[in-house]
Amino acid sequence: MRCSQPTPTKRRILALGLVCLFTLSLHHVWTKHGIHIPWSSVLQRHDVELVVQKLSKSNDSVEMYVSSTTTTTSKVPAAWISLLESEDHVRSSQNEIPKIIHQFWDAPGVPKAFAGNIKTWTKKHPKWEYWFWQASDVRLFLSTCFPEYVQLYKKYPVTVNRADAMRYFVLFAFGGLYLDLDMVAIKANDDLLNGHPCVLTEETYEHSIILYERVKHPNLINAYMACHPAHPLFRMAIKDLPKSRAERDHLRRTGPFFLDHIYHVYNSTNLNKTGHELTILHPNMVMPTYDKGQASVLRRKCMTSRNKPAAFNKACRSFQNRKMGNQVFPESYANHLWTHTYMAERRWKSSPSLKITDIVPKAVNVTRRILRMCTRNGS
Ligand SMILES: *[C@@H]1O[C@H](CO)[C@@H](O)[C@H](O)[C@H]1NC(C)=O
Ligand SMILES: *[C@@H]1O[C@H](CO)[C@@H](O)[C@H](O)[C@H]1NC(C)=O
Ligand SMILES: *[C@@H]1O[C@H](CO)[C@@H](O)[C@H](O)[C@H]1NC(C)=O
Ligand SMILES: *[C@@H]1O[C@H](CO)[C@@H](O)[C@H](O)[C@H]1NC(C)=O
Repeated sequence: MRCSQPTPTKRRILALGLVCLFTLSLHHVWTKHGIHIPWSSVLQRHDVELVVQKLSKSNDSVEMYVSSTTTTTSKVPAAWISLLESEDHVRSSQNEIPKIIHQFWDAPGVPKAFAGNIKTWTKKHPKWEYWFWQASDVRLFLSTCFPEYVQLYKKYPVTVNRADAMRYFVLFAFGGLYLDLDMVAIKANDDLLNGHPCVLTEETYEHSIILYERVKHPNLINAYMACHPAHPLFRMAIKDLPKSRAERDHLRRTGPFFLDHIYHVYNSTNLNKTGHELTILHPNMVMPTYDKGQASVLRRKCMTSRNKPAAFNKACRSFQNRKMGNQVFPESYANHLWTHTYMAERRWKSSPSLKITDIVPKAVNVTRRILRMCTRNGS
């Protein structure tokens, strides 16, 4: 709309004037405070470009946002999130994985049975921030930071879809290390992640190669993912969620097969070469054991493995060499316990639970961080 357009009536002139004034005042807020801007409903492509330029010139505001210990009100967040609508890339000097652990449970409290797993992470990562996301935090987060996706999220038919989807938004917005509650730390994971912009893992070969027969490219799994904020892989994942909503299999709708699909699309672009490389871990590092509940299926499949590709036979030999021991390896940094909470959701939700601060006293107030990130005044 142009301010100089002729208008037939006084009322329309007045209305137009108001609109122009409003637009100007937005622009004013914009330029005066740099990247301290209103939420994306008023952002146009042009604005996003400005933000990106701004981000690439001013170091400190980005640092302020990425820094996990800052107590300053961040100025960047809204702009940062609007990078979702931009094809531009964040400078590679910001491509560090922030030291934040994210976990999620879709109900108030945390089942007591997970307290031990959680503590393995906080004990081995004393300098990391610990963020525990409850369902209510995710609702606040999406409605504040990604309002366009609230309906999609609400309409997912099963909890596991919401648990899957939230992690893509969280990693895109804040970065850090996302972990399922049945992950346990064996040692500090810093060495594994330092110097990499984004780290994903293949699923245990007993699953990906023997069970799913993904012989050429073992599939990725989303129970352990670490990335810097605004990574284009998660932008791609978020933007693809609406397309996958109609998939009948929840693994393809939002889960590991969805992530794997996104990874293949990503790998076929040139994004991988612009400071946004993906590091794909061998399962022995953080996903070393298989689901014991699948042992008999694995044995059966391996017994009838004639005419299978070499990779399949190799995975079977490795499975048989374990002699049901299912041990972790000397090089393993973490393990996945295959608890499958979503298969017994009601039982888990009615099991004894604790407050997260009973388990991790220094757990970050996630509500506060969301508000700081996605509302104008950060309060
Ligand atoms: C950006 O930050 C780095 C490290 O904090 C600093 O060395 C560098 O001088 C900064 N660059 C600008 C343009 O402020
Ligand atoms: C990724 O792309 C490279 C080269 O384009 C190719 O060699 C590799 O097999 C691809 N990986 C997957 C998992 O598709
Ligand atoms: C992406 O980057 C990783 C790490 O540098 C590399 O191993 C992989 O082959 C790359 N894929 C493509 C398609 O270039
Ligand atoms: C977390 O922060 C919010 C917003 O600042 C505040 O209302 C709430 O009381 C805080 N919760 C706790 C447990 O401190």
